[in-house]
Amino acid sequence: MIANLADIESMEKSFQTNLINHLSGAKAAHLIGTYNEQHQSNLAIFSNVIHIGANPAMMGVLFRPVGADSHTYKNIQANKQFTLNQIPVSLVPQAHQTSARYTLGISEFEACGIEEETIPEFDGPFVKQSLVKMGLIWEEEHLIKSNQTVLLVGKIQYISIHDSVLLPNGHIDLDVAQSVSAGGLDTYYQVKKLAQFPYAKVSADASHEPRRNS
Ligand SMILES: Cc1cc2nc3c(=O)[nH]c(=O)nc-3n(C[C@H](O)[C@H](O)[C@H](O)COP(=O)(O)O)c2cc1C
Repeated sequence: MIANLADIESMEKSFQTNLINHLSGAKAAHLIGTYNEQHQSNLAIFSNVIHIGANPAMMGVLFRPVGADSHTYKNIQANKQFTLNQIPVSLVPQAHQTSARYTLGISEFEACGIEEETIPEFDGPFVKQSLVKMGLIWEEEHLIKSNQTVLLVGKIQYISIHDSVLLPNGHIDLDVAQSVSAGGLDTYYQVKKLAQFPYAKVSADASHEPRRNS
């Protein structure tokens, strides 16, 4: 299929949404845990989660335009704290169900059958079954003016990684962790390691470099 802007804009609505949502490929799916002002827990699935920087350690989350139902976003505004929990294969149906619009005060942990874990070191609800999880504090956020989405940046305060998936060099073995990725808003993928390379440098033998026009 080839589509120009006019073609894209005239596509049938759900086809267009599915297509554009899949264009960014499979993205690591996370469950975001928060508390509301009454300290009731909330849990929701997000796949627009990105690495912002390693030092200071920061992650970003892209939120849909904020509305009355945006519990995760509002809870982070209120408490500044949130948890990011990678989703193991075994938890996919329950994790997907957290995207339903539960009323305020209903905990998706209970409603979707996901075990909640609390720890003394960080005031945020974690997902017990998750092998890779972290606690973050709101750092800054940016409104994307053209569509009113919000890129929220959090600073990592706490990391919990199961020993079975942490490698001696700091890598996380995502094969073993069985953390899932999402394509669009309804399809889940399992990742498989293909290769690992040393840090890429320009070769001393410049003949392998692409030729430049001068
Ligand atoms: C696979 C998947 C990925 C999602 N990713 C995002 C996302 O990155 N950003 C977002 O705002 N909503 C995303 N959603 C939608 C939220 O999960 C949904 O709006 C949910 O109701 C938010 O819950 P809350 O009101 O408790 O915050 C995603 C949904 C699914 C199924």
